[in-house]
Amino acid sequence: MLKVLIRQPARRAGCLFSSEISSTNCRYQSNVKKFTQKPNIKIRRPRTAKQLAQEKFEEHLNSKNRFIRWGAIARSESFSKGLTKYLIASYILFLVYGIYFMKKLYAKEKELERLEEKSKSGEANEYELLRIKQLRGKLRRRDELKLASYEKMRENGTDSFDGITLDNNDQNKLNENILPARDTTEFYEGKAEEYDKGVNFEEKIIFMGSRRKWLMRHCEGDVLEVASGTGRNLKYLDANHINSITFLDSSEKMMEITYKKFKKMYPSFKKAAFVVGKAENLVDLAKANVPANDDKHSMEEITSVKSDTTKVKYDTIIETFGLCSHYDPVQSLKNFAALLKPEGRIILLEHGRGTYEFVNKILDDRAEKRLKTWGCRWNLDIGEILDDSELEIVDESRAHFGTTWCIVAKKKGSIKKKEEVGFFEKYFGSSIKKKLESMDAPSTQTPTEGKK
Ligand SMILES: C[S@@+](CC[C@H](N)C(=O)[O-])C[C@H]1O[C@@H](n2cnc3c(N)ncnc32)[C@H](O)[C@@H]1O
Repeated sequence: MLKVLIRQPARRAGCLFSSEISSTNCRYQSNVKKFTQKPNIKIRRPRTAKQLAQEKFEEHLNSKNRFIRWGAIARSESFSKGLTKYLIASYILFLVYGIYFMKKLYAKEKELERLEEKSKSGEANEYELLRIKQLRGKLRRRDELKLASYEKMRENGTDSFDGITLDNNDQNKLNENILPARDTTEFYEGKAEEYDKGVNFEEKIIFMGSRRKWLMRHCEGDVLEVASGTGRNLKYLDANHINSITFLDSSEKMMEITYKKFKKMYPSFKKAAFVVGKAENLVDLAKANVPANDDKHSMEEITSVKSDTTKVKYDTIIETFGLCSHYDPVQSLKNFAALLKPEGRIILLEHGRGTYEFVNKILDDRAEKRLKTWGCRWNLDIGEILDDSELEIVDESRAHFGTTWCIVAKKKGSIKKKEEVGFFEKYFGSSIKKKLESMDAPSTQTPTEGKK
């Protein structure tokens, strides 16, 4: 007798399906064959891949290892359904915020444009000029103090600031922790020999090398380095990118070190000049015919051959940690602008007051010691000096709690280079802005504007 194990017929025969079918509760008889289930034989249903995966998944869900458990939760259906909801919600939130942000930005741009037009025609009052700086994110400490006074006046009922000018709060003059400027030539004459050894460690721990590298990357064409000191930027100079280089420092001994370093590092570069003189006298120095060859000149030598016109102009003027030791840093920067070609750039790496009060307190408390040790005023408000020099800042960034100032500046009124125009300025300063303006032009036009 042929005995066949089959499951489906067992169901068709009305038996309760179970993985175990015994001969006692199920007997199937067909027309053709008759079989009897052998007692105690277990019939195991083979599991599908899906079932196996489900079992594994459940095992992972109950795993003691939290990472396996979290992995399983992340794969679960309920989680992915929830996730979709969260994603949609955050997308909507992002959109709403984006619209709000753009609206604010647009309003800011509009206000800035209106105020700038007023400023150009000379009609802007002091408050409006400060507001322009605020909208551009370029307020200095003294400006913040002034704006606070204006806000107080507004709270007290003043609604127009026309004709009002408040006292300047110049930090570099009024803050008694900022020591008066002085001529540091003698100091650096005595410091020259030990200078490099002394600053090496300090610069290493704050990665100043990368900032110097950043500065030197900007060098092109005819370059002037002011307050070149011991030539600490030389190792980052790419001589292939420049036409000539002139070094200026008020200390002859510091210059001597730069000279020796340069000769050693760039022996075949001929268009280099080494001038001993002060940044405050730069324009006079340039009127003299300073040859851009590898010659050293003293201030006296140069002024004796002075002519009336400025013959030398530069593509790049750089200075690192020099403003803090000049006796007139504002005049020095004005001289830089006078010697800059129209397309030229001034690149500065300076140290000064930081962004946080606790940092400034440290600088203030140690200002005297610093001056004695390094001959510099490290707590100067560099922003104030820049603003007073009337240079136009193209890029300003700060590091080390705001105490390291990295500046790219240009002559006032000269055109920005393509790569210097930022994203918002590029897209909101021209095409999109114009489109938006043309869209809302009829509604915003005032009657007087209409007459124009
Ligand atoms: C702190 S050191 C900086 C040196 C160098 N630039 C550096 O990054 O290490 C300041 C330098 O500025 C020079 N210096 C000070 N007053 C100056 C002035 N009025 N004109 C030109 N150089 C000046 C000093 O002789 C000194 O070499």
